[in-house]
Amino acid sequence: MLKRISTLVVAGLTAAALAACGTGGSGGSGGTEGGGGGGGDAIVMGFSQVGAESGWRTANTKSVQEAAKEAGITLRFSDAQQKQENQIKAIRSYIQQKVDVIAFSPVVESGWDTVLKEAKDAKIPVILTDRAVDSADTSLYKSFLGSDFVEEGKKAGQWLVEEYKDGSDTVNIVELQGTTGSAPANDRKAGFAEIIGADQKFKIVASQTGDFTRAKGKEVMDAFLKAQPDIDVLYAHNDDMGLGAIEAIEGAGKVPGKDIKIITVDAVKDGMQALADGKINYIVECSPLLGPQLMDLAKKVVAGESVPARVVTEETTFTQEQAKEALPSRQY
Ligand code: AHR
Repeated sequence: MLKRISTLVVAGLTAAALAACGTGGSGGSGGTEGGGGGGGDAIVMGFSQVGAESGWRTANTKSVQEAAKEAGITLRFSDAQQKQENQIKAIRSYIQQKVDVIAFSPVVESGWDTVLKEAKDAKIPVILTDRAVDSADTSLYKSFLGSDFVEEGKKAGQWLVEEYKDGSDTVNIVELQGTTGSAPANDRKAGFAEIIGADQKFKIVASQTGDFTRAKGKEVMDAFLKAQPDIDVLYAHNDDMGLGAIEAIEGAGKVPGKDIKIITVDAVKDGMQALADGKINYIVECSPLLGPQLMDLAKKVVAGESVPARVVTEETTFTQEQAKEALPSRQY
């Protein structure tokens, strides 16, 4: 199954691929190679990452890179800078390079069928990691490793229902959504809406994308605060947007965690610190440490072994007290 390619061909194809990916520059998707010793019979994995939009993503990239090294897998890594077209280019370049396996975290859910079919026709197995695609033909990929984002949204909603169980006044909620069209934004929104929808006192008064970034979270929260005089709760689809929103809330002279209750998703160190400090009220964990499981799956699919179609990451939730306890040993 492993392909041996002469040094000359590798050099040529790598150069072509990197040109296609637009390495290094600020507008392109950088390509790097690491781990595995880079030769012999080592499995070669092409990995297309979403970007570097959040603390979660940085931790995820580190986990994948370290796990590849540990597993002796040669990793060809590219950063799509949150653009689907960059991911499609990267996947096509991995197909050209005849890597042994392709893994990627799809920035959005739709629009992958053509490139996934190209990989299938080239007999290169694909593993989805972190985010799903909406392709009806599930034979286009071998496995999907990642969180249950609907469940994460439900957990956020359940905390809110419990928090306001004794009141009957309207609870005005603003929502900072993740990247438009991405699986975590779609699913976290749906899971949350399903739970709070059972009680009419919960009202989402504004909902907009903050693209999973701190800067956009602040910008959109600034606008929410100007347009909405009476916000009780902020639900942010990740910590980074929540942290940006905290700056906006403080800038407006309000106290985050008290005047406006805040629920976020991820549980990265900065988010956990804000939770321990009382600025966030509750965090639903989404683990970025997918590297080791991804490498195990890759070894199996390259060896032709069967793997589960879905591998769900185990996750928890954190209150302010639990964050204080967990912070000292938090890895990311
Ligand atoms: O797909 C996982 C999400 O992507 C994380 O929750 C978010 O922080 C990241 O950008």
